Order: sequence, then C-alpha cells, then structure tokens
Amino acid sequence: MENSMADKFQQKIDDDIRIEPRDWMPEAYRKTLIRQISQHAHSEIVGMLPEGNWITRAPNLRRKVALLAKVQDEAGHGLYLYSACETLGVSRDELINQLHTGKAKYSSIFNYPTITWADIGTIGWLVDGAAIMNQVPLCRCSYGPYARAMVKVCKEESFHQRQGFEILLTLSKGTEAQRQMLQDSVNRWWWPSMMMFGPNDADSPHSAQSMAWKIKRFSNDELRQRFVDMCVDQAKILNVTLPDPDLKWNEERGHYDYGPIDWDEFWNVVKGNGPCNRDRIETRVNAYEKGAWVREAASAYAEKQASKKAIQVA
Ligand code: 3HC
Repeated sequence: MENSMADKFQQKIDDDIRIEPRDWMPEAYRKTLIRQISQHAHSEIVGMLPEGNWITRAPNLRRKVALLAKVQDEAGHGLYLYSACETLGVSRDELINQLHTGKAKYSSIFNYPTITWADIGTIGWLVDGAAIMNQVPLCRCSYGPYARAMVKVCKEESFHQRQGFEILLTLSKGTEAQRQMLQDSVNRWWWPSMMMFGPNDADSPHSAQSMAWKIKRFSNDELRQRFVDMCVDQAKILNVTLPDPDLKWNEERGHYDYGPIDWDEFWNVVKGNGPCNRDRIETRVNAYEKGAWVREAASAYAEKQASKKAIQVA
C-alpha cells in the first residue's frame, strides 16, 4: 500500500503537480522540507541583525528609509516561511526553540560583522543577489506553500539588491576614501557570499534527493556559477576588483573559472565559531524573551474574541 502511495507521489512530482499540505507525502520529504524551510526562515530573521545595526547610522534619510523597508521585508519573509513550515505539522515554538538551542542552522553569511556603511551596500548586492539566484528556482519548488511564499519574497529581494547596488555605485563615484571603503567591503563579503550556496555538489548530502523531489531545481554549484557569471560584469560597473586571482573567463566552458573556496572557514562558521555567531543567537533569545508580553497579549485577545463568538453562536 505504502509503495503505491510513494509511486503516486513521485509521479505527481515528475508531472510537476504541486504537493499540498493535506496530500500524502513520504516522511523524509516532509522532514527535509521542515529542515530547509525553517533554516530559510531563521536566516531571514537573523539576517535582520547585521543590517539593523546601521538603521540609526544611515548617511541620510533616503538611505535610512530604504534600509528600514528592507529589514522589515526580511521580517515578513521570515514570518511567511515559518507559516509555510507550520503547514508541515511543526509548531512555531518548536522551530524557534531549534534556532535558539543551535539545533537548527541559519545561513553562515549572517555571522559576519557589518563594519562600514559600504557593507550595507555589499549585502544588498552580493548577499541578496545570491539569495535571489537561489530563491527564484524555489518559486517552482514541488511543495506548494513554499513555492508560493517565494513569489512575494523574490519580488522584494530584487528591490533589496537594487538598493544595495545603488549604494555601492554612489560610493564608487565618491572620494578615494569611499572607493577604498567599497573595495574593503567587497574583499570581506565576496567569499562568504560564495559559501551561501552550500557545499560543492560532491559534498552535499541533501542535493541529489532534493533534486529528485524538485525541491531544488538546480544544484549548489550550478547556482554558484550563475552568481559568479552575473557578478563579474556588475563589478566592472562598480570599478571594484573581486578578490579572486583565479577569476578568468573560460571560453570552452562559457563561464568564469573561479578559485578554491575555503571550506574549513565555511564549516567552522556553520559549527558556531564565526565572528558573530554567539552575539546573533544571544540577540535573538533576548528579543524573544522581551517580546513574550506581545505574544501573551495577542493570544489573550484572540481567546477573548473566540469566547465572545462562542457565546454569540450558543
Ligand atoms: N549556511 C549554513 N548552513 C548551510 C549553508 C549555509 N550557507 N549551506 C549549506 N548548509 C548546511 C545545510 O543546511 C546542511 O545542513 P543540515 O543537514 O543540518 O540542514 C548541510 O550544510 C549540507 O548542505 P546541503 O547543500 O546538502 O543542504 P541543502 O540541500 O539544504 O542546500 C541550501 C543548502 C542551498 C542553503 C538550501 O538549504 C536552500 O536553498 N535553502 C533555502 C534558501 C536559504 O536558506 N537561503 C539562505 C539565505 S536567506 C537570505 O539570504 C535572505 C536574504 O533576504 C538576505
């Protein structure tokens, strides 16, 4: 019996029929979706911290407004994704607990510090640029709620990337000190952005199965390569040098070759030893504890409304 259900399930995947929350699905499919969607949501929420650090220090009102809008968008993306994850039968409290106790990951990139204003531009250009590269294919993910959440997220990500690129374009036309600040920022963020796509395909334990289930439409290395090919030309417009001496156009491949990624650094940061890991989780736990009264007030109000309704119906 279970076999034919599994066959029917795979046939739906092969026929590009969306899987919805009430459909039968293999337990492993549900589990890997909870893993990926929850870590995606955690990344959005933790990702607010490095940028939020500059809201009060933005150089002018226009930049402040754009950054404020971006950080608020990230909060919305997190909520969207937590809601999509809850359709798989896991509670918000459980997901938050997994983040706070280190059981769940979030994107390594958010464990790096935002030292200068140029970092806000570089995050928009490179980090959101990498996120878009990875998230557009997720709009065609086989799991309905995740794919639908991605449509709105991707629309907002393109604004995030544009506002970041514009910050850098302004700096690239500024003083020598501003151009230096731009170059220093790209030097610090280029390789961590490359790591956002995950380990090489050969070292990715989840990719093959996620591709077979059309959760992933492209592999980590395919998306990383597209990202590199896109950034090289954009870097020329910014008159900035990408910190990779091995970056070179390969006519035969029709892509840019790039240098080796420091996977020791990647796994070290993923394991919790990055520059800001401890600070990020501490900040999240404090915010969660300080915000308990809001959750309590909202649920008290909801209970009151529900009991009022019940009396009216009775
Ligand atoms: N940071 C932290 N952990 C990472 C990682 C990264 N950059 N890349 C991979 N990993 C982890 C995986 O989670 C997995 O660990 P797990 O088994 O404990 O979950 C392990 O490394 C092996 O990696 P795989 O490639 O085999 O795992 P996946 O198939 O899940 O692929 C992924 C990794 C490409 C990140 C995939 O999970 C994915 O596409 N996730 C959705 C997109 C996402 O989460 N993006 C993060 C950034 S969100 C963002 O940038 C917001 C923007 O607004 C700024």
